[in-house]
Amino acid sequence: MESDKCSKCFSTGQSAQEEQLAHVPDCYEVPPAQRPSLNSPQAHVPLIDLAGLRIGPPQRSTVIQSIREACIRFGFFQIINHGIDQALMDKALSAADEFFHLPTNEKMKFMSSDVHKPVRYGTSIKDGVDKIQYWRVFLKHYANPLNDWILSWPESPPNYREDMGTYSREVQKLALELTGAITESLGLNPKYLNEKMKQGMQVIVTNCYPPCPQPCLTLGLPPHSDYSCLTILLQGSPGLEVKDMQDGGAWKLVPHIDGALQIHIGDHFEVLSNGVYKSVVHRAILDYEKTRISIASLHSLGLDDKMEPAIQLLDQDHPKAYKGSSFRDFLDFLSANDIGQGNFCFLDTLKI
Ligand code: OGA
Ligand code: NI
Repeated sequence: MESDKCSKCFSTGQSAQEEQLAHVPDCYEVPPAQRPSLNSPQAHVPLIDLAGLRIGPPQRSTVIQSIREACIRFGFFQIINHGIDQALMDKALSAADEFFHLPTNEKMKFMSSDVHKPVRYGTSIKDGVDKIQYWRVFLKHYANPLNDWILSWPESPPNYREDMGTYSREVQKLALELTGAITESLGLNPKYLNEKMKQGMQVIVTNCYPPCPQPCLTLGLPPHSDYSCLTILLQGSPGLEVKDMQDGGAWKLVPHIDGALQIHIGDHFEVLSNGVYKSVVHRAILDYEKTRISIASLHSLGLDDKMEPAIQLLDQDHPKAYKGSSFRDFLDFLSANDIGQGNFCFLDTLKI
């Protein structure tokens, strides 16, 4: 049976790379139509200088306008002058890298395919459960408010909690600032979601994509949009591709710009905007030789707080196009569906 074969790949919780395989096992092979070309053109990235948000009203409104254009046209953009030091970003990437280098038994303490766990280590998405497996190892943990969660994070490597904790706290602050700017760019009050996001969920996902002997056959992550309001992604090297809906759905490689952070509009901001902003569909591709590390911080409302289209954006010509949903609704969906199968997309279940 197919699933027996897959679960065998993961009986020890090790990635195929750690098992030193020279080829990609069948359970990692994606169908031919989904295979990456490995020479996708570079994506055009709107690069937004956040310094303008803090200078004065005219500069702020210029930045708000560029955010609006990027969210309508692309569903993603990159930011500079975001206030997070390069040194801190490097420390967070190193802490993640060191965690993935720990002996398997250390990492296995956190191993689970239960998507509702607040701290979870795994390979692929739900290892041993989903039909196709992806060439990724990850550690996910909740991070806001930090004091509620940090004691459940790994104690090893010794600097993990401090470095990842400081990074998480800074990113949470940045997410609040961006939320203000994005709601303002929709014509809503910049404080529209402030309190809810302050108390909202922050999920830190550290991704490790090991070198792959046949990167043309498999993926690190399948095409998906993030369930979040917004995602702040720090990538150590290139490997992220976005689907350009205004270029026939072509896959484009997102360049790595030193010091910049990648922002994704997630499903819940698409819902808030009633479809004016689109959550970006993206995937991770692999490299023959290099391990790639990325850290995604996904920000949403509280676990049971439902995101609805903003009533200010609805009228007779723009009827409500999405139903409300919470982070817990997404987790229940993820637990029940195999998102790698392509026909299971959380956002589609919300469309009216
Ligand atoms: C994610 C994600 C992309 C990457 O974690 O949701 O899309 O480049 N990561 O690792
Ligand atoms: Ni993603």
